Amino acid sequence: LALPADHPLRDGRTSGSPLVAAFTGGAPTRRPVWFMRQAGRSLPEYRAARAGVGMLESCLRPELAAEITLQPVRRHDVDAAVLFSDIVVPLKLAGVDVDIVAGVGPVMGSPVRTAADVAALPELDPAALAPVAAAAALTVAELGGVPLVGFAGAPFTLASYLVEGGPSREHLHTRALMHADPDTWHRLAAWTAQVTGAFLQAQVQAGASAVQLFDSWAGALSLPDYERFVRPHSAAVLAAIGRTGVPRVHFGVNTGELLVAMRDAGADVIGVDHRVPLDVASARLGHRTPVQGNIDPALLFAGDTALHEHTRDVLRRGRSAPGHVVNLGHGVPPETDPEVLTRLVAFVHDQP
Ligand code: CP3
Repeated sequence: LALPADHPLRDGRTSGSPLVAAFTGGAPTRRPVWFMRQAGRSLPEYRAARAGVGMLESCLRPELAAEITLQPVRRHDVDAAVLFSDIVVPLKLAGVDVDIVAGVGPVMGSPVRTAADVAALPELDPAALAPVAAAAALTVAELGGVPLVGFAGAPFTLASYLVEGGPSREHLHTRALMHADPDTWHRLAAWTAQVTGAFLQAQVQAGASAVQLFDSWAGALSLPDYERFVRPHSAAVLAAIGRTGVPRVHFGVNTGELLVAMRDAGADVIGVDHRVPLDVASARLGHRTPVQGNIDPALLFAGDTALHEHTRDVLRRGRSAPGHVVNLGHGVPPETDPEVLTRLVAFVHDQP
């Protein structure tokens, strides 16, 4: 699919932005920085806007979702917005019985574990994605030259919620299914790839200038299992976006052993968590892939002196990659003082 003529990457609004420049090997005018989960509970204006509205419902009200997406951009002067939504939104829109429970995460009405469960998964009617596209379009209209990052959950991470029935530390049922019944696993992963790919494509067509595919829990997998059971499905999602030319970031937690395999799934940029220093990550990637990351979220609670020293080290190590977008190693913890984030953005922008 080609981008529409009024897409911000085509009409020039965001093509020269620091974020897009860093993602595409250009020379950014300032070092770009944004934060995973920058919209959310760390902001009092978010808690006020969300009062009395369920999480998934707020994602499906376009004006509200756009407002929440814009809040951290106004407050922190970050170099990107990230759409306020959730990885399970496309499951909900397909008709899957899923809810997001505060303090827990996504919870399924019943787990999807058998061939019959997988065969019974509903089709996603693309028209059902209209509220997501509308939220993205409203946001893009307000953002001007600041790019919107669209995102989706990768097939493994989403399938894990479906198979486990909710959050899981070890993902045992999911990893067992791969080996016990590979055909059923591959059908499930192909279904999630289709649904999550449509969700991502809707955001791109509505004006997202980059995308991030979150395989948050892929670090639970060995490299051979990742390559055999997961990569082909993530590759299908990334290849469809690749045809639009929109830069693709791929990220997971604890994925130091998988960085090359994840890049080879078809990512233009690799997101790195705090466990692997960026110069080490970049060396593993052959110094030919821009990186994003990887300030340790714990340092947000260590005082500005320690945080800024750590950030200087992150910036120095990031120079060994052909592009670096500053981010945290994972999402903003809800307890974060938002003023720490505002000062951190200014600090990053002040660095040579
Ligand atoms: O600012 C942003 O980054 C955009 C918003 C965003 C949300 N979810 C909003 C949200 C993004 C990018 C996500 C992605 C997401 N959701 C991922 C991948 C990113 C990651 O963290 O690894 C995953 C694994 C999920 C599943 C999920 N949804 C979890 C684990 C939780 C937290 C549960 C909790 O309360 O601790 C959610 C709920 C969720 N998604 C919230 C937000 C703002 C909290 C809802 C609330 O305010 O009650």
